[in-house]
Amino acid sequence: MKLLVILLFSGLITGCGGNSSRSLPSKLLLVSFDGFRADYLQNYEFPHLQNFIKEGVLVEHVKNVFITKTFPNHYSIVTGLYEESHGIVANSMYDVITKKHFSDFDDKDPFWWNEAVPIWVTNQLQENRSSAAAMWPGTDVPIHNTTPSYFMNYSSSVSFEERLNNITMWLMNSNPPVTFATLYWEEPDASGHKYGPEDKENMYRVLKEVDDLIGELVHKLKVLGLWENLNVIITSDHGMTQCSKDKLINLDLCIDRSSYTLVDLTPVAAVLPKINTTEVYNKLKVCNPHMNVYLKEDIPARFHYQHNDRIQPIILVADEGWTIVLNKSLPKLGDHGYDNSLSSMHPFLAAHGPVFHKGYKHSTINSVDIYPMMCHILGLKPHPNNGTFGHTKCLLVDQWCINLPEAIGIVIGVLLVLTTLTCLIIIMQNRLSVPRPFSRLQLQEDDDDPLIE
Ligand SMILES: *[C@@H]1O[C@H](CO)[C@@H](O)[C@H](O)[C@H]1NC(C)=O
Ligand SMILES: *[C@@H]1O[C@H](CO)[C@@H](O)[C@H](O)[C@H]1NC(C)=O
Ligand SMILES: *[C@@H]1O[C@H](CO)[C@@H](O)[C@H](O)[C@H]1NC(C)=O
Ligand SMILES: *[C@@H]1O[C@H](CO)[C@@H](O)[C@H](O)[C@H]1NC(C)=O
Ligand SMILES: *[C@@H]1O[C@H](CO)[C@@H](O)[C@H](O)[C@H]1NC(C)=O
Ligand SMILES: *[C@@H]1O[C@H](CO)[C@@H](O)[C@H](O)[C@H]1NC(C)=O
Ligand SMILES: *[C@@H]1O[C@H](CO)[C@@H](O)[C@H](O)[C@H]1NC(C)=O
Ligand SMILES: [Zn+2]
Repeated sequence: MKLLVILLFSGLITGCGGNSSRSLPSKLLLVSFDGFRADYLQNYEFPHLQNFIKEGVLVEHVKNVFITKTFPNHYSIVTGLYEESHGIVANSMYDVITKKHFSDFDDKDPFWWNEAVPIWVTNQLQENRSSAAAMWPGTDVPIHNTTPSYFMNYSSSVSFEERLNNITMWLMNSNPPVTFATLYWEEPDASGHKYGPEDKENMYRVLKEVDDLIGELVHKLKVLGLWENLNVIITSDHGMTQCSKDKLINLDLCIDRSSYTLVDLTPVAAVLPKINTTEVYNKLKVCNPHMNVYLKEDIPARFHYQHNDRIQPIILVADEGWTIVLNKSLPKLGDHGYDNSLSSMHPFLAAHGPVFHKGYKHSTINSVDIYPMMCHILGLKPHPNNGTFGHTKCLLVDQWCINLPEAIGIVIGVLLVLTTLTCLIIIMQNRLSVPRPFSRLQLQEDDDDPLIE
């Protein structure tokens, strides 16, 4: 028994402390397919992605951050921070102090990004290594005066093939080597907005195209000889839910447009009152039962969405599927941005490569947990963040992990064995020490027997 324990431990120690992961720096490619809702995986067919998962790991639900929009969530993945801490609190922002505006078309001022340090910058500053980006929000901005060594200016018209060709070229021939790379694609988000996720026919077509792109990605990595040694994470920023023309919240019915500035509209509106915050709040509060209205200081703590100057004095949060408008008809059949506890807002995560287990399924992690895991893979010291490395240990071959059901099983098992043993011991002791009246009776009967005979 002792020998077995010693053997187990020495095995663990050599397994963890071996130089296999330290001799060459691990390489990591982080891929995002925008708006890939977690349950698309259950409801549609993805032959290429399923092959990728079969030889790797799958996290079925990634709990992302509020508000569940593209820029904020992509920045949380690469910083491990909630939005209030990394400063990209929406796709449209206004800073009252500097009077600067931010939008997804006007995002290049480092001012907006400098509240955090994304992993591609850390990768280049901590070690003599390069980062490369075939797009990802922020990768074409000099954050802390540093862009990835190789990057593309954002343009939706660059094809997936060109993004893939260039990112693999950079991964292959660069000095110092590219150890961290990103690849971003606009689908299935764009079609999710256009058709709505309940349009099975159109979503089937679009998701098949996405799966074919994953097939191309894996094929290209294999042809170039990158597949065996490269770690690849495929994930997304948020999900998508169906909207309806019957679920409109028209602010114009409740309050005069001239009394506030609308910094961001739907499904989470950011409201900057012009004169009297209380008055604006009181009017909005009774506007529609399908919209929660919060003064900044009352925003629920679970959103982690309060402590930043870029969060406006009043925010409006529409219920799932409801759309906030200014006296207009429904703009989109699908949308996201809603409460991050809604499972329709969650993406998934799949990963493949030498650092990941093969054929392992995990139910859930937080999107902020991805950052400490990526730092571990790259051997980087993480900046302070809101993620928990322990949540991702079960995905990694160099970590020891017991997941919760297993742990509960083991504890119950041990308790059962202990209880059984205790009962047995008590019964045995009772048998040995207490003389049993019944056995005496029998003896007496035995004594009587000869008399009868
Ligand atoms: C450690 O690394 C060296 C080369 O850096 C290699 O020759 C050796 O086999 C490695 N040992 C283990 C246990 O991986
Ligand atoms: C991709 O690489 C090719 C060849 O080096 C280059 O001509 C092209 O501009 C690159 N594409 C982008 C979007 O940077
Ligand atoms: C990105 O755009 C800027 C300004 O338009 C230009 O100066 C720069 O060379 C471009 N960078 C790349 C990598 O294409
Ligand atoms: C970084 O790596 C390159 C190429 O591998 C090398 O030429 C350079 O001297 C290295 N710099 C440092 C500071 O180690
Ligand atoms: C909405 O717009 C229409 C014209 O498009 C106008 O007649 C109506 O008064 C507006 N309603 C509100 C509440 O502003
Ligand atoms: C703001 O409006 C509220 C409610 O209408 C009112 O009680 C309060 O006096 C106003 N405050 C200011 C500074 O005008
Ligand atoms: C998130 O992490 C940052 C950086 O460590 C920290 O300042 C902030 O308080 C954390 N937020 C929460 C809710 O713990
Ligand atoms: Zn979107």
